[in-house]
Amino acid sequence: MRKNIVAGNWKMNTTFQEAEELIADILEKLETAENQCEVVVCPPSVYLELASDYANDYDNLLSIGAQNVSEHEKGAYTGEIAASMLASMNMQYCIVGHSERRKYFNESNEQLALKVERLLENAIRPIFCCGEQLDEREADQHFKVVETQIKEALFHFSADEFSNLVIAYEPVWAIGTGKTATAAQAQEMHAFIRRIIAEKYGDKTAGDTTILYGGSCNAGNAKELFANPDVDGGLIGGASLKANDFVAIANSF
Ligand code: PGA
Repeated sequence: MRKNIVAGNWKMNTTFQEAEELIADILEKLETAENQCEVVVCPPSVYLELASDYANDYDNLLSIGAQNVSEHEKGAYTGEIAASMLASMNMQYCIVGHSERRKYFNESNEQLALKVERLLENAIRPIFCCGEQLDEREADQHFKVVETQIKEALFHFSADEFSNLVIAYEPVWAIGTGKTATAAQAQEMHAFIRRIIAEKYGDKTAGDTTILYGGSCNAGNAKELFANPDVDGGLIGGASLKANDFVAIANSF
């Protein structure tokens, strides 16, 4: 079901103590916030239990997600985390295919398809990331790139399965660079994504899909980005590490 979501991707940041302070701070501020969205925090996996315990104490004001998952079910894959493990800890979301995973860990669309499959089997909602590099945009290839990422990783799923997905459009040139896509660029791509989903699964599924924007989204530009008809919220990196900024973004609808 389509809804407004603001999700924080902490990436590989915070010590245990810092994570505890940040989660407590976010929850405290959310208690008095009037946010019109679901708020999700994706801390490093070693802090998932901590975050989830805190969220439980606050009547689930916050949903918790992981940043990555293995494409394998279980077994001899040292260092990996299975979707069934995340499910056994009641994780609601998991980011899949973040551009940093694609770039530094060579994750392919084929591998991402398996990760999404594992998550869906375990009733965890994937936040599937897609987005073009700067040279691809400059060569006017951005629609094609995003279409290929989505088609190759996701379009073999049934409409029922697809309805559990959240899509995050994150132009790679905007991630961590302070260079946000303009509201018009975000809207244009989000509308395009919704259109290809409609072509494959029909208008109802497309209309029900939550599509987030990510890439230097902050407390100053969130309102303008979220005001677009096809932008249903954001996947927030840097600004999610500051409780004030993150909650201000969640209040930007
Ligand atoms: P950023 O990161 O907000 O720091 O640009 C976004 C992301 O990587 O999800």
